[in-house]
Amino acid sequence: MRFPVTFAFKFVVSLQLVVVQSAYAHEHASNYSTWMALSVISREQGVLASSNDTSAILQAGITQKAFRRLAQQYPHDPSTAAIQQYLKKSIVSVVVPVSNATKDLTYAMDRLSTGNGLIDLYDDTKNETYREAFDALRNSINLNNRNAEGGLWYFVYPQWSYLDGMYSLAPFYAYYTTLFDAHNKTAIADMMHQLDLLWQHCAANNTGLLVHGYDDSRTAVWANPITGASPHVWGRSLGWITMAYVDTLEILPRNSPEWALLQSRFRQLASALRKAADATTGAWWQLLDQPGRAGNYIESSGSAMFTYALFKGVRLGYLENSARGVSAYTDVATRAYEYIASTFVVNNGNGTLAYNGTVAVCSLNSTASYEYYVGQPINYNSVLGSAAFVLASLEYEDLVRRR
Ligand SMILES: *[C@@H]1O[C@H](CO)[C@@H](O)[C@H](O)[C@H]1NC(C)=O
Ligand SMILES: *[C@@H]1O[C@H](CO)[C@@H](O)[C@H](O)[C@H]1NC(C)=O
Ligand SMILES: *[C@@H]1O[C@H](CO)[C@@H](O)[C@H](O)[C@H]1NC(C)=O
Ligand SMILES: *[C@@H]1O[C@H](CO)[C@@H](O)[C@H](O)[C@H]1NC(C)=O
Ligand SMILES: *[C@@H]1O[C@H](CO)[C@@H](O)[C@H](O)[C@H]1NC(C)=O
Ligand SMILES: *[C@@H]1O[C@H](CO)[C@@H](O)[C@H](O)[C@H]1NC(C)=O
Ligand SMILES: *[C@@H]1O[C@H](CO)[C@@H](O)[C@H](O)[C@H]1NC(C)=O
Ligand SMILES: *[C@@H]1O[C@H](CO)[C@@H](O)[C@H](O)[C@H]1NC(C)=O
Ligand SMILES: *[C@@H]1O[C@H](CO)[C@@H](O)[C@H](O)[C@H]1NC(C)=O
Repeated sequence: MRFPVTFAFKFVVSLQLVVVQSAYAHEHASNYSTWMALSVISREQGVLASSNDTSAILQAGITQKAFRRLAQQYPHDPSTAAIQQYLKKSIVSVVVPVSNATKDLTYAMDRLSTGNGLIDLYDDTKNETYREAFDALRNSINLNNRNAEGGLWYFVYPQWSYLDGMYSLAPFYAYYTTLFDAHNKTAIADMMHQLDLLWQHCAANNTGLLVHGYDDSRTAVWANPITGASPHVWGRSLGWITMAYVDTLEILPRNSPEWALLQSRFRQLASALRKAADATTGAWWQLLDQPGRAGNYIESSGSAMFTYALFKGVRLGYLENSARGVSAYTDVATRAYEYIASTFVVNNGNGTLAYNGTVAVCSLNSTASYEYYVGQPINYNSVLGSAAFVLASLEYEDLVRRR
């Protein structure tokens, strides 16, 4: 992929000038979406380095979703061809690792985040290799371990389910079923059941927020003896499931009972997020249930995910009915976006952007204590943060354009 990268750099330099010049004309009109996407490409992120690089599947999945949205929003942008070529490279990189449903069970549920990209590429090319890959992913849902309530295990840990997995599961389950299995009512019911179980088990006090996950056997060191819930509201895991809600609403038919239930839950989450936004910065804490506590900090991946979900929820009319797509949530998301852009986005001075402040993986295979979550490393240029920022930027830029 040398050609597109070279092409991208040439474009980045000119884009940077455009952004700097236009800053005088309109202080908010930056094209961070494209610029950050080209920076992700320059770092060769979001593509599996080899078929063994399966820990990067979620990175590939969110990169694919962000790049797909970018290409849809800016079909005529001079950099879109390079971004689309890279998107294809990312999708092709997962084909071999995911095409065996039995082997898929050796990966976390994150594997399913690559399913929609494979479906879209199949749709564009009719190449059966891609269909075999997403069919294997679909079959892997049937083979996945479940707890006694039918909840899918997130990974190898017996009886544990995480909010994180829903970003990968729900939009794929909904998309696949709508396109290829429309008469299978069991499939949509099963998807809803997964969301229901997490909603019930992970409800965080009366805040409307959700904790990271639950252990249905209630035996983990951190498990609440009644609900099985883990103790804390981790920003990125809540970010994953909030994005799952808004992205699944976009896929399911609007007149279905499932759509209405998802919308009502999404509204409750949005309302809780609005209350949990930090008063000083407008963004969100690494642990939302412990604002301001020593060691806690504003985290850049969860914040970008919430910003994306709130903007999109307003734009598509899921949050409040408003002809111009403007609501109180627009203000919440705009404030958060501007904080994120001015705090975590770093101009490298060579045509690329960096993205700061994204926490490393937080696992429930730990004490799941306050000290654990705030002690995990903070990564520079984690694509889990920068791809979420691309998604948030696309929404922000769309809003600025419509104003
Ligand atoms: C993947 O891992 C296996 C076993 O560790 C090894 O034999 C193989 O060469 C690796 N493949 C690649 C592409 O790195
Ligand atoms: C942002 O990108 C869009 C689509 O390419 C373009 O129309 C617009 O002029 C760009 N704005 C700035 C400020 O660069
Ligand atoms: C699929 O993966 C399983 C488990 O790794 C393996 O036993 C099986 O041979 C694979 N099937 C094919 C067709 O490669
Ligand atoms: C289908 O896709 C696979 C994987 O990307 C590729 O190796 C193969 O050449 C493609 N087949 C055709 C007919 O284009
Ligand atoms: C329908 O979906 C359910 C739940 O995923 C699955 O177990 C079943 O195999 C599917 N039925 C068909 C005919 O594919
Ligand atoms: C629930 O409330 C208790 C007591 O106020 C608090 O310590 C705890 O952090 C809360 N948990 C969550 C997940 O919000
Ligand atoms: C741009 O600058 C960053 C930060 O110094 C560096 O890591 C990166 O390799 C540079 N990229 C290019 C293409 O020069
Ligand atoms: C990244 O953020 C850390 C604090 O989380 C800060 O110490 C560091 O200076 C930042 N790096 C850059 C290049 O802004
Ligand atoms: C879970 O944590 C234990 C203790 O740190 C570690 O030995 C084990 O490898 C972890 N399991 C997985 C699947 O990462």
